[in-house]
Amino acid sequence: MAEVRIRCRANGPLVVEGPVTIVDHEGNAFSVSSEKPNIALCRCGHSANKPFCDGSHRACDFQAVDLAVSK
Ligand code: FES
Repeated sequence: MAEVRIRCRANGPLVVEGPVTIVDHEGNAFSVSSEKPNIALCRCGHSANKPFCDGSHRACDFQAVDLAVSK
């Protein structure tokens, strides 16, 4: 099985790397190009194309620089 990785971009979206299906609250899949290796999911709340990032995080000056803490 292929590995999926979710990467938090500084001040930007969550980038999903790997084969995934994104579904709505009813379980219906969003159409995503199979040619795109990564999917960017909005976490600023300002995208006009939710759940996907459309770059609006730059205009709203979204701030998020979450770092993983070693245990
Ligand atoms: S994170 Fe990019 S539009 Fe919201």
